[in-house]
Amino acid sequence: MTHNAKPVTVIGSINMDLVTRVQRFPLSGETAAGSDLATVAGGKGANQAVAAARAGASVQFVGAVGADDYGRALKRGLERDAINVRRVRRVRTKPTGVALITLNAAGENQIVVSPGANATVSARRVSEAAPLIRRSALLLLQLETPVSAVARAIAIARRAGVPTVLNPAPALPLPPDLLGGVDVLIVNETEAMALLGRQRLDPKVDLRRLASRIAGETVILTRGRHGALIHYENQSRPLRIKAHRVRAVDTTGAGDTFVGALSAALVRTGDLQQAASFASAAAALCVTRFGAQPSIPSRRQIERFVKCSSGGPS
Ligand code: RIB
Repeated sequence: MTHNAKPVTVIGSINMDLVTRVQRFPLSGETAAGSDLATVAGGKGANQAVAAARAGASVQFVGAVGADDYGRALKRGLERDAINVRRVRRVRTKPTGVALITLNAAGENQIVVSPGANATVSARRVSEAAPLIRRSALLLLQLETPVSAVARAIAIARRAGVPTVLNPAPALPLPPDLLGGVDVLIVNETEAMALLGRQRLDPKVDLRRLASRIAGETVILTRGRHGALIHYENQSRPLRIKAHRVRAVDTTGAGDTFVGALSAALVRTGDLQQAASFASAAAALCVTRFGAQPSIPSRRQIERFVKCSSGGPS
């Protein structure tokens, strides 16, 4: 694994995913029989950190787990991916975060998250990690930890000239000035609509609108099997990143894989378009496998997939 001198710092959530498969999602008030329960490492922050590490970046993580078996196992898992977990606290007051995930026959999911220890990743904890943030090649954030902590991290990174990538997932209302410090925003359609307060999206207009709200004016819209769109540097129309056609087994963690792999490739190459194509291949591989972290591919697997995928991206 090639490691850049400066690490990618990820501040975010760590969850144990409790997953069951059903033929179709139950209606409200309905009970459905699911498959045997699977216990899988997840959490948006941890998934993105693992994706960046497997894609070749040196990664340090700021987060929290409970003082319980899930917490121990999840922290150990991050260490196995060579992620620096010195700033992952074990808290006694909360259990480890858990995500209850139902998968349907098409590999789509419904997720309910119980944040647990993730809620203790406060602005104060982030301030304590300021020296780590300042030494980073890039700071990567999502919204499964308190928004005040995300805002503090962006402010610290900005003052130190460290580029920030925000994946505002899950979609939440944000304080108006938070986006102003972000360099690269990576959103799916739901998150983009939530940020804009709209029911429909016109990518050509709305990506430009979102870009005007952030410092780096770079917005990436991920569209699942339709690939991604990038808006940057006053372009009149977004640049299209094609998706790879694969058979979806489980889409859980595909967005996180895209974000983590893109961050690693961006730090390595400095080329956003190249990084997004690499990330698109990584996400495609992820959906062909079950579970969040177990399905995240390595740099070698991604490069082999790009080479071998017949006819290339579609
Ligand atoms: O993005 C997928 C992740 O969302 C899952 O791993 C689950 O933990 C939830 O946080």
